[in-house]
Amino acid sequence: MIEFAYIANSITATTTVVAVALVLCLPAAMCEPTKCTKPELKQCYCGKTTYDRQELYAVNCTGTSLSTTRSLEALTNLPDETEVLIFTGNNLHELPCNVFGDNVNLSQKLRFVDMSNNNIKVIKGKSYHHVLAVERLILNNNNIGLDGIGFHHPRVFSNFVSLVELHLTSAFADNGVANISTDLYEVFQNSNLTRLAKLHLEHNKISSIKEPRVFCPLSNLLDLHLSNNLLTGIHFDISCMSHLRFIDLESNRIRGFHEEDLAILDSAAVRSKLNNSTFAVDLTFNPFSCGCNIEIIYNWKRNTNVIVRNGDLIVCRQDVLGNPLDPYADYHKFNCPIHTTLVDHNHEGHTMVILFVFGAVILFLGAVLYVSRFGLKRFRPEFNTSSRKIHYTTIDKCEEQEIQYV
Ligand SMILES: *[C@@H]1O[C@H](CO)[C@@H](O)[C@H](O)[C@H]1NC(C)=O
Ligand SMILES: *[C@@H]1O[C@H](CO)[C@@H](O)[C@H](O)[C@H]1NC(C)=O
Ligand SMILES: *[C@@H]1O[C@H](CO)[C@@H](O)[C@H](O)[C@H]1NC(C)=O
Ligand SMILES: *[C@@H]1O[C@H](CO)[C@@H](O)[C@H](O)[C@H]1NC(C)=O
Ligand SMILES: *[C@@H]1O[C@H](CO)[C@@H](O)[C@H](O)[C@H]1NC(C)=O
Ligand SMILES: *[C@@H]1O[C@H](CO)[C@@H](O)[C@H](O)[C@H]1NC(C)=O
Repeated sequence: MIEFAYIANSITATTTVVAVALVLCLPAAMCEPTKCTKPELKQCYCGKTTYDRQELYAVNCTGTSLSTTRSLEALTNLPDETEVLIFTGNNLHELPCNVFGDNVNLSQKLRFVDMSNNNIKVIKGKSYHHVLAVERLILNNNNIGLDGIGFHHPRVFSNFVSLVELHLTSAFADNGVANISTDLYEVFQNSNLTRLAKLHLEHNKISSIKEPRVFCPLSNLLDLHLSNNLLTGIHFDISCMSHLRFIDLESNRIRGFHEEDLAILDSAAVRSKLNNSTFAVDLTFNPFSCGCNIEIIYNWKRNTNVIVRNGDLIVCRQDVLGNPLDPYADYHKFNCPIHTTLVDHNHEGHTMVILFVFGAVILFLGAVLYVSRFGLKRFRPEFNTSSRKIHYTTIDKCEEQEIQYV
């Protein structure tokens, strides 16, 4: 009798443990997702799994190499309870309208969508529906052409009203990225990405920004990831993003900064500080040229409120095509002309020189007039001091710094 009670007890206990495990998914091994039951998803796994440190219902079609037809069959048959969709390593050249079919119930639960590595070339304006709750969209490692989004399909992300993270790392086709900023601006403007906090655009061969307002529609952006592109400077407006706290520009092609660019970074830091926040940049592994360019950056780094991540790793490079071979070339010159040694310069330097020359000519003419009217005697000391002032203003920061830090 006692023995029987013991066995019954242990059976109850075991059942309880199993039940608890099924509900709470306690030991990881016990809640491994199983193959999905729907025939269209038979190569995928369905079930609760740990994603983003939560237990969520995931449909996982990873490395399933589904053809376009099979992919679309799978995507239009997602279970209502799907919270995470991992659909990677398939072939899906073009996302048609309504890629998730017309399952309106999907929009209640679906929060994470990873569609990396599918060789996606075209996303249509009406491809993504029922994505109102999606917080993270990952489209890394695809082949999206600018005729695949942008002006042709500016509403690709328009239904992602809850999106917090957008991952577009190595997402675009190599040709045509020259105009990517114009197209992205169009896309962002036609979307409702008001909650977007993180934008990833790494490894996209972006070399120039033709539309400086490109990120402005993302008014709540916190982190902008642009590492491993071919950018030569910060040629986009950052003042329009009042919450920005980090720009990653690691491993680009920046050779130097205009002082105006650094001033813009400074003002972003000042603004952040007002809101008890910080502003950081990462500039490591850029081919800064030696001489004035790097001096300007070092000097800025010492004085700025901007957090320069891995600042100790910022060095100048001589072995880069276009950088002067002689690191002291700048210093040997008469003075270090900040604005003209920058590789990617605009005409502001020239304007300043012209203004200065113009001012000097006027001063000189004034002096000549003055001297001719009142004679040289009274004038001489003043002429000396003013000449010294002029001399100092022509010497740029680089030179000053050499004097300061010798
Ligand atoms: C999805 O499936 C792949 C391969 O089956 C696996 O390696 C990966 O960990 C799964 N992801 C999640 C979040 O369960
Ligand atoms: C959505 O859910 C409701 C209730 O749960 C159900 O009746 C309906 O069939 C579902 N619709 C689709 C398209 O699955
Ligand atoms: C970039 O886009 C703009 C706006 O449509 C267009 O005027 C320009 O010709 C494009 N440039 C290139 C190089 O495609
Ligand atoms: C963006 O979404 C918000 C909230 O869902 C909505 O109030 C607003 O009208 C939308 N704006 C546009 C341009 O779609
Ligand atoms: C500071 O924070 C407030 C409230 O969060 C926000 O409205 C404002 O735009 C922020 N200002 C700046 C300069 O970041
Ligand atoms: C920033 O912090 C200070 C001190 O903690 C506080 O008085 C001030 O209200 C805060 N400002 C904002 C914008 O949160």
